[in-house]
Amino acid sequence: MKYSKLTPDEAAALIQNGETVGISGLTPAGAVKVVPGAIARKAEAEHAAGREFKIALFTGGSNTQEVDGALSNAHALISRTPFQSNPDMRGHINVPDLHYYDQHLSVVTQNMRYGHLPKIKTAIVEVCGVTDDGELTFTTGANNAAGFCMLADRIILELNTYHSPKIREIHDIYLPQDYTKRKAIEIFHPWDRIGTKTLKVDPKKIVGVVETHLPDGVKPFKPGNETTDRIGRNIVSFLEHEYQIGRIPKDFPPLQSGIGNVANAVLAAMGESHVLPPFSMYTEVAQDTVFQLLKSGRCTFLSSTTITFTEPFMTEFMENFDHYKDRILLRPTEITNNPEVIRRMGVISMNTALELDIFGHVNSSHLFGSKMVNGIGGACDFARAASLTIFSCPSVAKEGTISAIVPMVTHVDQPEHDVDVIATEQGVADLRGLDPRQRAEAIIENCAHPDYRPLLHRYVEMTPAGHIPHNLEHCFDFHRAYQKTGDMHNAAELLQ
Ligand code: COA
Repeated sequence: MKYSKLTPDEAAALIQNGETVGISGLTPAGAVKVVPGAIARKAEAEHAAGREFKIALFTGGSNTQEVDGALSNAHALISRTPFQSNPDMRGHINVPDLHYYDQHLSVVTQNMRYGHLPKIKTAIVEVCGVTDDGELTFTTGANNAAGFCMLADRIILELNTYHSPKIREIHDIYLPQDYTKRKAIEIFHPWDRIGTKTLKVDPKKIVGVVETHLPDGVKPFKPGNETTDRIGRNIVSFLEHEYQIGRIPKDFPPLQSGIGNVANAVLAAMGESHVLPPFSMYTEVAQDTVFQLLKSGRCTFLSSTTITFTEPFMTEFMENFDHYKDRILLRPTEITNNPEVIRRMGVISMNTALELDIFGHVNSSHLFGSKMVNGIGGACDFARAASLTIFSCPSVAKEGTISAIVPMVTHVDQPEHDVDVIATEQGVADLRGLDPRQRAEAIIENCAHPDYRPLLHRYVEMTPAGHIPHNLEHCFDFHRAYQKTGDMHNAAELLQ
């Protein structure tokens, strides 16, 4: 190998105060493993010596404790975008002691290309292969790695020999042309290959290689429970009905599924349906449940930007690579989340909300309008462009003291216009073709917890006129009651 071998600390020494850095990874899959920790240590040493040291950080999305945890705890970040889900970083964002701004995952590298965001100086990306002429093989995630490499002035590679270079067989790397010269992205089915298996970069940009031998370290999700199972079954019953009456085509469009326990429960229920045919997926993140569906044959093809499998499943996948390699493609996020492709294929999109209002607006990122949880990720990319957009969540949180169905959400990630169907463990509200008052009736009766239905009806009845029955004095009574008393049931005293 003609490139300089670096230790993590030598790589970190190349990074200067104020630099913009693009780090690969969306989920632990494809995330760099050791250089960010060294940058965090460098920041701590610089701060101890009385010198300023911070970087502006771009990633593919949620990243690991070694990236988001270590760098935020070391106060090494000026800013961070896009999606994150790290508890330590969440704490720092909510102080706030770093500038966090959320973006649709489909537009991150596009916004960088056109100068809407600061230019990347250094890309630090994980590969399992690199040739002397600059051909890179990415590992278990494509995420924004290709975009970062093309845009950066220089590249530091983490060469992770834990992953076999044969994983290149499942990569399909394609970056769109510039505006006005851009061609159609010719993906008509999830299995259409349009790009290359490796990324070719100018080898002069590769300033060093740090060798590692580390698994992705994906943690298993919390097991589902009765509530998540019921949400899953409710969504699948709804899809079965739509399929049987012909509103979903017989060859069943690809599915997108979000993250979290509810998303896993929905996919598990899809696996058990005797009515729905085997299906393909065009999605952003694939967790263990998707591997199980591929294994059982219920999922016939997966197009994703990462495979976030826990170790036993990753081992099984690699041991049977020849069986799976023709059933999976990993694409850059700009392509997996591209609205052009999602709309063309009629993807059915299923994501999770924190709270929903009785008119169908969705909050999936901020608690009480203020505290960031994770961010929007790719949910809005899919929600707007999909042929059928479903949001779900348990009807109550925190032992029933919070109703997830409220008069008005405290933060809007998806507007009512992008939401077709809402599901909780109580049932399903099909909002298509309904006006705001009809929506409110459908959501309260089918999705709200029975304890909260009278209060929600009372809110609607307080405003007899107007297209949307909002009452600006009372629209946040549920939230105010919780903040004052720790229980939304006490909104009864405010809604007078
Ligand atoms: N008010 C206050 N707290 C609430 C709440 C509400 N309405 N709803 C849930 N919570 C709390 C839960 O009690 C839980 O708290 P805990 O961590 O103290 O136990 C926490 O919020 C998370 O809830 P949980 O049900 O465990 O979440 P999840 O794992 O199903 O994830 C989202 C749900 C919305 C956070 C997650 O799906 C997400 O980040 N979505 C946005 C991005 C996205 O959709 N990406 C996919 C697109 S490809």
